[in-house]
This record gives sequence, structure tokens and C-alpha cells, in this order.
Amino acid sequence: MAAAGSAVGLGNIWRFPYLAAKDGGGLFLVIYIILTLTFGFTLLTTEISIGRRTAQGPLTAYGKVKKGWGFLGGLAWIVPVLILPYYCAIGGWVLKYFMVFVFGKAEMAASDNFFGDYITSVNEPIIWFVVFLAATSFVVLRGVNKGIEELSKILMPILLVLILGISLFALTLKNGDVTGLDGLKVYVVPDLTGLTLAKFVQVLMDAMGQLFFSISVAMGIMVAYGSYAKKDADLMSSINQIELFDMIVAMLAGLMIVPAVFVFSGREGMTAGPGLMFQSLPKVFVKMGNAGSVVGIIFFLTVIFAALTSSVSIMEAIVSGLMDKFKLRRRISASLTTLYALFLGVVVCLGYNKLYVEVNLPNGTKGQILDILDFISNSWFMPLVALLTCILIGWVAQPSYVIEEVEQEKHKFSRKLLYIVMIKFVAPILLFVLLLQSFGIVKL
Ligand code: PHE
Repeated sequence: MAAAGSAVGLGNIWRFPYLAAKDGGGLFLVIYIILTLTFGFTLLTTEISIGRRTAQGPLTAYGKVKKGWGFLGGLAWIVPVLILPYYCAIGGWVLKYFMVFVFGKAEMAASDNFFGDYITSVNEPIIWFVVFLAATSFVVLRGVNKGIEELSKILMPILLVLILGISLFALTLKNGDVTGLDGLKVYVVPDLTGLTLAKFVQVLMDAMGQLFFSISVAMGIMVAYGSYAKKDADLMSSINQIELFDMIVAMLAGLMIVPAVFVFSGREGMTAGPGLMFQSLPKVFVKMGNAGSVVGIIFFLTVIFAALTSSVSIMEAIVSGLMDKFKLRRRISASLTTLYALFLGVVVCLGYNKLYVEVNLPNGTKGQILDILDFISNSWFMPLVALLTCILIGWVAQPSYVIEEVEQEKHKFSRKLLYIVMIKFVAPILLFVLLLQSFGIVKL
């Protein structure tokens, strides 16, 4: 449950829909599902098993699997370090939208320039970011994680029901001749016209980075969760649950956002990037009439909690790493981490105004500071950590290292053959190719 709480977050609700839209819908969706069932499953199984078998956190676990591989834990630790600041900045956006709806300003939030005006303003985004970061630090410092998890057990099902309801409503939208059902078609049916190899690899790269981000692998976090798992727990069934639940939430979130974007702003609107959810959802809520304001309030509130359980696990990964490595006390490592995130998070917020830049990223977008950090963590570090993990388990320690752990107490390892083929051959080769592409070494 805790691992699923870490997995479901802004990655599913904010990041997945905007990538699916940017990559044109259908094709991204199909590739994503295939990757989840193959790559996602392989990496989740590997990390959770390493955690449980070594009974150690990521910084020391890899070194215990094989001498000399401890560096992989350090490399994985960098990923949450890169993610935390901008994750909290987006958490701040969600807080702002929640407040706007609380004050009954749904119409205002639905206007075309609202989002752009908001993030380009200097002070307010920083304030909400600080509030979100403070909440995250508070939970980590006070160790009140349990309380938040209890609360989110109630809120997550509400969020899921809301997402489902909003998506169904979005399908009934109409704008001129265009209906929600046309949008649905764009979202689910792959459109292969004009598809080039370069474009295909780009979509693959996006989907792979998204998968890592969404199920929280390739950053050591799942190793930590594995180390908490009981020796007689059925790992495979937990893994299947995390994998499925995370995928369903993401796909539904896409259903709630992508068709609506198509209805309101056509194909051009689909490339809006990180702002997509904030630009399109208020419009959907306003179309719901009075009920929309209430739906908006509950929706943004539940998203805040989904984001908080994830940001807590991201910060926890950094903090526990510092504690292990430098023998620091919790309070000191949490304070250092907060100070660092505060600094970089402010830089991220200013990236839309005072520090505005436009950098061409290898995934075909022009990015600001947030996108750059996101790209470095998702398209460079995560595939690299994943590739090295595959080499470690597939070739150095051998897949039996993981298989034996899963099959403890006679539990069944379904998809065992798939696992072996993936970890030894398919995953490392594909990851290597993707890395060449995302480092810009090979240009297709
Ligand atoms: N997987 C989380 C999400 O989808 C984000 C996350 C990233 C959580 C890294 C933990 C570590 O939002």
C-alpha cells in the first residue's frame, strides 16, 4: 500500500496526460501499456527483491548484491535530489488552483491566460511552492507519515471515483462540430500517418521516462520499500497490484484531460506541456455548472494528498540517504534537504519569469528550468540507473538472485521467462539505445 501511495501522484495525474497529448495520444498509450507490462514489471520486481533480499536501503543494498556495485545506490540517490524541487513547485500550482476554486473563482481559472499569467508572476508561485515544501518537510521531520498514509487511504478512492466521473463527463463535451468522442478517438487510436523512426524513438523515450517516474523505479525508492517487506509476503502479487493500479490511474487521468483538450483547443492545444492539466480541467469544471466548483475543490484537494504522499517519499529517500551515509541525525538531514529544495525550487519558479530560458531538448520540446531538470532526471539518470541494474542482475549476479527471492515460501513467479529475457537482453539493449538518443550521441 505504501509503495502504491508513493507511485500514484503527480506523475499519473499531471505528467502522463500532458505527455500522452504531446505525443499525439494513441501511439503513446499503446507503447506505455506494453512498457508497463514488460519493463515496469521487470524493474519493480528487481528493485523490490534486491531490497528484501539484502534488507538494506539503496545506498548500501547494491554493494551487498555484488562488491564494487555500491556506486549504483549513489547514482540512484541523485534522482530524487533532482526531482524534489520541481515536484514541490508543481505541488504549489495544485495548491493555488485549490484555493482559486475554494474562493469560487472557477470561471477565472478557466480563462485562457490564467495559467500563463500565474506562472509568469514572480511572487505567488514561490509562496505556494514554499507552502507545499513546508508541508512535505513537516511530515518527514515529524515522522507523521503514517497519518498521511491513513488519510490518503480514504482520499485515494475518492480521487479515483472523481477522475472516472470527470472523464465520463468530458466525453459528453461539445465545441462546434467537435465532441468528446472525437477526442477519445485521438486519445486511444494510434495515428501512424507520417510516423518516422525518429518520432517513434521520441515517443518511446517519453513513455519510458514516464514509466520510471510513475512507478518510482530507477531511483532506489522501491529498494527501500522492498527492505521493509516481510519475508513471507507474496512479492509478485504486490508488484502486480502496484503496476496495475498505477497504470489505471494514469490512463484514466489521460481520459479526463486529453479528449477535453482536443475539444477545447484542437491538436495545437495538445502540445501545451506541463501546464496542460491546469489549463484544461478548469474549463471542464466550468462546463459542469454549479456542481463544477465543488468537484473542482474536492478534485484539487485529493490531488494535493496524492502529491504529498509522493513528495514525502521523494524527500524521505534523500533524507535517509544522507542519514546513512554521513551518520547525520534526521533533523539535520531533513533541514539540509529542505534548504536545498527551497533554493532550487525558487529557481524553478523563477524559470518562468526572471530566469526564463528556452532550451531545445532532445525530446523535441523547448524547455524551461523545470523541464530541464525533469529531462535530466527522467531521460538521463533513470535509464542509466535502470541499465546498470539490468547488467548487475542480468549478468553479474544472475536473474536467479531475484527469482529465488520472489519464490520464497513457495510463492509463484508468474512471467518468469519474460523476466529473464527482459533483464538479460531486451531491457539493457533498448535502454542503451535510448540513452544514446537522449544524450544526443545518436541523432535519428
Ligand atoms: N511516482 C510518483 C508520481 O507518479 C512520483 C515519485 C517520483 C515518487 C519519484 C517517488 C519518487 O507522482
